[in-house]
Amino acid sequence: MDIENLGYWVLGVADVKAWASFAHEVVGMQAGSVEADGSLALRADGYRQRILLLPHADDDILEVGWEFATPNELTAFITRLKAAGVAVEEAGEQARKQRRVRRLFWCADPAGGFRHGFYYGADLAADYEPFRPGAGTGAGFETGPLGLGHFVAITKDYEASVAFYRDVLQLRVSDFIREKVAPDKEIELTFFHTRTGRHHSLAVGSVASSSKRTSHLMLQYKRMDDVGLAYDRCVRAGHTIVMALGHHPNDRMFSFYVKTPSGFALELGYGGIVIDDAQWSIVTHPKRSDWGHELFPRDAALRPA
Ligand SMILES: [Fe+2]
Repeated sequence: MDIENLGYWVLGVADVKAWASFAHEVVGMQAGSVEADGSLALRADGYRQRILLLPHADDDILEVGWEFATPNELTAFITRLKAAGVAVEEAGEQARKQRRVRRLFWCADPAGGFRHGFYYGADLAADYEPFRPGAGTGAGFETGPLGLGHFVAITKDYEASVAFYRDVLQLRVSDFIREKVAPDKEIELTFFHTRTGRHHSLAVGSVASSSKRTSHLMLQYKRMDDVGLAYDRCVRAGHTIVMALGHHPNDRMFSFYVKTPSGFALELGYGGIVIDDAQWSIVTHPKRSDWGHELFPRDAALRPA
């Protein structure tokens, strides 16, 4: 009854059209059209929808969707959540349709201000409407069993968040980063993976690096050239590069970070590792980046974890 992977994000954004053109022309996702309720769906692969944009003043993440492989695993997980004292609500037909899933439950994140969705049965459009990348080499995104990508949650209570993700959601600890960022300031990050092993689907830090609920979302390309091509498109279109090209020591991701139209960052990367739990040992890394990821001073406050 483990979570299979991280399958979707619901973002509440002030400017849906700006997001759609950023996601399509710069990131290389496929953008749908604006629905009657003002929402818009973004695709990254054969799934009918991976990011749902809702018009919302928050300009922030509203919900993250955790995918289950079978309906029985989903219901067993929900039974366990309830037994652990978590308030769980089953989503109605309208919400399920909007997220294009067959069964969906929700609970609030205890310290992050967003909602967790637990679902089964995403609408796969690959057979009747193949994914068409909006830009890049055409190779698309590394998703499939690994899920959509990863995100870093900004928490009001680091210990409570770590305990919830580890003990209640039963996400698996990947590793830690403990970095001295000033003589009197150390930050710690905990990274979590799901059953299918993307190095992390979720990370959380001890020091809030942003006023948003997430410091960044991450999408991974299948080809390294797509990172460089995306970097060029970001610079040419005048988007703010928050951190330059670099490499993380733990997930070994080659990536850069660009500011989204909502203010939080999007990491675009290549080469993140997949964890095999039978071979894996948990370590603590002393730095977030082993080279690069230079912070651009004009956006110092926005540096993602
Ligand atoms: Fe990241």
